[in-house]
Amino acid sequence: MSKLACLGGKPVTTNLFGKAKLHTRPDLERKYLLEEYDSGVWDDWPGGNGQAFKFEKEWARFSDSRFAALVNSGTHAIQLALEALGIGAGDEVILPGLTWQATACAVVDINAIPIFVDVNDTLCIDPRKIESAITRNTRAIIPVHLYHRLADMDKILRISRKYGLKVVEDCAHVHGARWRKKGIGTLGDFGAFSHQRSKPMNSGEGGSVLTQSEELYWRIVSQRSCGRAFSDEKVHNGSYRISGFQAAILRGQLAAMRRRAPVIDRNGIALDKAISDAPGVKLLRRLKGITRQCGYGFAFLYDPRAYGGLAPQKFREALAAEVGLSFGSTYAPLHHSELYYPHLKKRHHLNKSYTRAITPSRWELPVADDVWHRSVVSPWSIFACPPSRSHLLTDAIVKIHEQRDDLLAAAV
Ligand SMILES: Cc1ncc(COP(=O)(O)O)c(C=O)c1O
Repeated sequence: MSKLACLGGKPVTTNLFGKAKLHTRPDLERKYLLEEYDSGVWDDWPGGNGQAFKFEKEWARFSDSRFAALVNSGTHAIQLALEALGIGAGDEVILPGLTWQATACAVVDINAIPIFVDVNDTLCIDPRKIESAITRNTRAIIPVHLYHRLADMDKILRISRKYGLKVVEDCAHVHGARWRKKGIGTLGDFGAFSHQRSKPMNSGEGGSVLTQSEELYWRIVSQRSCGRAFSDEKVHNGSYRISGFQAAILRGQLAAMRRRAPVIDRNGIALDKAISDAPGVKLLRRLKGITRQCGYGFAFLYDPRAYGGLAPQKFREALAAEVGLSFGSTYAPLHHSELYYPHLKKRHHLNKSYTRAITPSRWELPVADDVWHRSVVSPWSIFACPPSRSHLLTDAIVKIHEQRDDLLAAAV
């Protein structure tokens, strides 16, 4: 076996994907963009016939949802969903402590209090820890479907029904995924999606919500458009609109996603198998409710003890050199995140007890801390790797394991 690539040897592969590519439709993106341009009307006005209206219809149908509404970002999709459900000042909202800062920002930006709950070996919220976080002020739960796993929606919905709580699914990572054959984002009161550049279905920036309630749909439409009343529903707000050009691109991205989602699911299962065949690493638990897994990143857990204590970052770098892809760790848990410090912002200085309640350092999240330290995460482009080549990932990990002493010696 050759020396490790990061120590100057030959890598296991310089092309993990072979000839395989994930399906894209730039032709349709261009076509719809031109259609929008030629129409001369470039906004998301409800009842119009532009790209925004068309995308909303197609996106709802693809997700088995009654309604879909576009908004300007994934962060605001969560925020508007919470406000449409009547959540605001002083209310508590439960969410996992391991997520992008947006999930919690959406809560503090409506003067509510984010309550962090630890995650489990799916990287999603641990349902066993939710009930003890519920108080008389709790109004909602935001399960975040992180990377290529889904939160346990059966248990979360059971708890929400028992305590009369609303559920807003944060689906920023999981366009096209399915839970018990239902489109993700249709199980709670709202599903909130991001269409920001790094996401598998994106328009540079953008967001959307799915809902099964006509009343809630019209509230979102009012909220995104300055609190106007397009029906009996209106909610005071500023502007959170998106342009028809973004919707045009999303239509092309959705067309590609129709073909891509089953491929990502199949390839993701093969990548999981590659991890379960490799030493000193562990795949994330995949819940039975997941009937199609489509995610934003591929993640697994590394055990430094099986590598003589080799630091996770050294393992990630060695693996990157063997297969020619980048690997990082998860987001920092929110109580360690450099991008989550709401207690320092004047807007949030409502009173001393509120400021205390939103101070991230009040939380202890041992599981989130542990997985942050030793997770190995690659961007969703890895899902292009076909099952016939996923053994290369196992080969790379076996090679690193066999030559761990060389890495340990080099690290001294
Ligand atoms: C889990 C999660 N929720 C919400 C968001 C917010 O999306 P946006 O960047 O579109 O506001 C992101 C973005 O990365 C995310 O990863």
